[in-house]
Amino acid sequence: MAKPKVFVARRMAQEALDMIAQAAEMELWEDELPPPRDVLLQKVRDIDGLLSLLTDKVDAELMDAAPKLRVVSNMAVGFDNIDVPEATRRGIIVGNTPGVLTETTADFAFALIMAAGRRVAEGDRWTRNGKWKTWGPMILLGHDIHHATLGIVGCGRIGLEVAKRARGFDMKVLYYDTVRRKPEEEREFGLEYVPNLHDLLSRADFITVHVPLMPETRHLISTAEFAAMKPTAVFVNTSRGPVVDQKALYQALKSGQIFAAGLDVTDPEPIPMDDPLLTLENVIIAPHIASASVATRTKMALMAAANLIAGLKGEMPPNCVNPEVLKKG
Ligand code: DGY
Repeated sequence: MAKPKVFVARRMAQEALDMIAQAAEMELWEDELPPPRDVLLQKVRDIDGLLSLLTDKVDAELMDAAPKLRVVSNMAVGFDNIDVPEATRRGIIVGNTPGVLTETTADFAFALIMAAGRRVAEGDRWTRNGKWKTWGPMILLGHDIHHATLGIVGCGRIGLEVAKRARGFDMKVLYYDTVRRKPEEEREFGLEYVPNLHDLLSRADFITVHVPLMPETRHLISTAEFAAMKPTAVFVNTSRGPVVDQKALYQALKSGQIFAAGLDVTDPEPIPMDDPLLTLENVIIAPHIASASVATRTKMALMAAANLIAGLKGEMPPNCVNPEVLKKG
């Protein structure tokens, strides 16, 4: 029997590619940059399965171009690049890679909390630019992480891991979410639930965002939210760029309404080189690398491969975002 055809949109851990090549006739996009849209539309014409990344838009147009498509496996926990309702309507299974990147992403969020609060990147630039002339009592002063108050916006898996790290720094941890955690979890992890976002923002010294991008969370953090923060606040976003109104963030940083920011995500990505944020010293901008550890990216690739292969067989992928497709029939 002929093997199903799949398109893998970028090179990833070899173990995962080997798994896929065993199960399917695989075409691999070898370029470092994503396939251009017209090329992607052409590549999917005859495929049964697509292994996509968050840079690949999987919408109705792509599904129209891929009449045989049965499964889309996204190598990311977030799947805002995929029109899931449209996939579901067409009976296309969609998989993602939750869990395996939780701790690695939380580590990075904490790294940004520390680096932005203590001006690490700015200090490095200071050194390289020959500005380090002496030790000075007033040079590059930041804000303490230890014993400060952390505000977590969206306390799902990743938010909770950040909370665990914060305990090691004796931080007070507040969280805001639309769903409250169980009282025993709040006790175990030392979390205080704040039902009002602005209350949390006004009380926190460090704010870290961990919500998925959905219509309700687009520009969740905008002018009014920055205005609610302390002038000493450090703001960190490792979720999705459009959750933050970037123009409002620029104004808040530029005017000193908040102290600093650490971003792993921007809107758009990559951030254009003429974006005014890049002119500011008090923002760190990483190129969407919060999950980028060797071990985690391998696990994500393996999970994406497993989802793809299960979907090709018509089986429930280990991580499926629209299980109703399989339950229906
Ligand atoms: C995800 O998985 O959604 C991250 O943004 C990339 O690891």
